[in-house]
Amino acid sequence: MTEVIGVILAGGTGSRLRPLTLTTNKHLLHVDGLPMICYPLECLRQAGLTQICIVTGHEHAGGFGELLGSGERYGVKLSFAYQEKAAGIADALGKVEWMAKGKKVAVILGDNIYEDTQVIKRALEGFENGARIVLSEVPEEKLYEPGFDKQPRAKYGIAQVSGEKVVNIEEKPLKPAKSNLAVTGAYIYDEHVFDIVNNLVPSKRGELEITDVNNAYRKKGMLTALRANGWWGDAGENIDSLHHAAELLRVSPKARELYHEMLNTKP
Ligand code: G1P
Repeated sequence: MTEVIGVILAGGTGSRLRPLTLTTNKHLLHVDGLPMICYPLECLRQAGLTQICIVTGHEHAGGFGELLGSGERYGVKLSFAYQEKAAGIADALGKVEWMAKGKKVAVILGDNIYEDTQVIKRALEGFENGARIVLSEVPEEKLYEPGFDKQPRAKYGIAQVSGEKVVNIEEKPLKPAKSNLAVTGAYIYDEHVFDIVNNLVPSKRGELEITDVNNAYRKKGMLTALRANGWWGDAGENIDSLHHAAELLRVSPKARELYHEMLNTKP
């Protein structure tokens, strides 16, 4: 396989986590004793990726440099890309084109935490072209919240699958959703992803949506899915999800130990 660039998307304004995010970047908030961004970074490292780009906005971005430096001490080479405005996940991905053009990318959201540190490694196994996403089953009672239009909507992108093929994805659909398979924040794309990103139009919430990127691959029959092993948490949704991610880690000693190994800290 050609070289794969690891990408951590750590932009956004962190508005749902104010006042904590008034003085630091959301992805530097601690979750069970580690800054949030260490979790996705470790998943990329576990996949053997050494070229990693972090995309972030202007809020307290200097903290990433203080925490991670060049990445050398973690065995990776870090680069940074800058997202001027919080204009969506796909917009953030477009900011790494300068270093990833013509290469495959393994993308992970900076606030997503997986019990399985090998999730990216597994998603890359046998991947040649097209795109692959990681799904997690979310129980009905945890799936919905009032959406941008105040209607009860799924909190996530929702997928329907046939075997490993993805046949449909809807971004935060109205209740009832067609399945309870949430699209989590880990995505593998082939080298054509930037052509797709560069032709997107903003959604109703005014953002370039990662779901539109995934649907472009799905329409060509080139989107496959992998189920996450164990739990998955989106720590950056709000203060409850931040606490919940820490609670999940606390009752998962194996995952905790693996994540802490990276920084040589003790859980
Ligand atoms: C984004 C994606 C959504 C996905 C979620 C996972 O939502 O748009 O499809 O399910 O991340 O964390 P956002 O966090 O932008 O609301």
